[in-house]
Amino acid sequence: MDKLNATWLLHRMDETGEILIGQTLVLDGPDPEAAVFDSRGGVFVAGGFVRDVGSADVLRERHREARVTDYGDGLILPGFIDAHVHYPQTAIIASWGKRLIDWLNDYTFPEELRFGDAAYAAEIAARFFDLSLGAGTTTVASYCTSHPESVEAFFAEARARGVRAVAGKTCMDRNAPDGLLDTAQRAYDESKALIERWRGQGRLGYAITPRFTPTSTPEQLEALGALWKEHPDCLMQTHLSEQTDEVAWVAALSPEARDYLDTYEAAGLLGKRAVFGHAIHLTPRERDRLAEVGAALAHCPTSNTFIGSGLFDMGLAERMAVGLATDTGGGSSFSMLRTMAAAYEIAQLRGEALHPAHLLWRATGGSAEALRLDDKIGRLRPGMEADLVVLDLASTPGIAQRSARAETIWEAVFPTIMMGDDRAIRDVRIAGRSAC
Ligand code: GUN
Ligand code: ZN
Repeated sequence: MDKLNATWLLHRMDETGEILIGQTLVLDGPDPEAAVFDSRGGVFVAGGFVRDVGSADVLRERHREARVTDYGDGLILPGFIDAHVHYPQTAIIASWGKRLIDWLNDYTFPEELRFGDAAYAAEIAARFFDLSLGAGTTTVASYCTSHPESVEAFFAEARARGVRAVAGKTCMDRNAPDGLLDTAQRAYDESKALIERWRGQGRLGYAITPRFTPTSTPEQLEALGALWKEHPDCLMQTHLSEQTDEVAWVAALSPEARDYLDTYEAAGLLGKRAVFGHAIHLTPRERDRLAEVGAALAHCPTSNTFIGSGLFDMGLAERMAVGLATDTGGGSSFSMLRTMAAAYEIAQLRGEALHPAHLLWRATGGSAEALRLDDKIGRLRPGMEADLVVLDLASTPGIAQRSARAETIWEAVFPTIMMGDDRAIRDVRIAGRSAC
């Protein structure tokens, strides 16, 4: 057997199956009216997939051979999906007091320089997956560094754990320390070699990853645009309009461009499988163009408050796919619960109270749509891969006393969204198997 796919196949071999019993909440979009809640529900998983969802009693009747795990009033949801994260920044999370460009130069780039060392990259990749899985996140789309070793380390760790993950070599050929710079040709060659090496391995996907226009020359963006054209099955991820001084810098670097988005479009880096991180300070033309081509956005709320970037407009989700993301280490948490809370707070500052259904959807199905993985993950539905999280809705005394008064599932889950952390993560299932 191909050793590379062994873990994933192992998960799929468990055909007897298991019924997970608890409270279930099936979302079909951000609208609470479309949600189906069952206080005594169940999910039947077998061979790494969700096979059946329904009331616990009915599932027991239908699948008599299956093992049963009863989580009581634990809430069973699809695992959280982090649509934009930088695993190499794990060790510098919560570094004090800078705005974007200084934060990159003073904290991020010195740390990323260390990832030419394969052993260090492997150590941080393992730490990163411990932390994100421990927070209930079952899929991430991560940036690596410009070193191919950093991509190798990430994918090797993801494969060993059997998780679905997307990543790519972060390409940069200007405005960064020499040890992080490649060239247009090297970015193309190394990304291509990584695509060929990792494509189709287990549950892994490749994202062509120019960091952002300030650190990629037009030649490098064009080389990566050409690579994307040759590999249209890949995602393309980058940053867009995060801070106003960054936007001004891009305008100075690219005077011929209509706007920031145009610097990507001119290089062939705009399309349906593009995921743009942040996208806060967009012009009307950029919004229209993103919607027109069906590109996706990754909203990174703890990062946007932490680095002081601005208030994302969630109204964009009516026009295009919007995933939710930690953006660790610009983001200040590995937890998608904390990230949902920050999304709620940012929307409040814009005058909108996002419903708990909307927040949970963004962290699951919304992110799956943004990463074009919604046929595989992000919903509790037969045929989906069995990546699940089970939440304890009374994980601390403060949360417990509030949820005890709840009269609806929304009131019961909202305190955990706002105040929960990894103590609220009762179990995590990767392709049906417990990862805790
Ligand atoms: N823009 C370019 N690179 C980065 C990064 O690493 N983090 C954040 N937050 N923004 C960026
Ligand atoms: Zn980022």
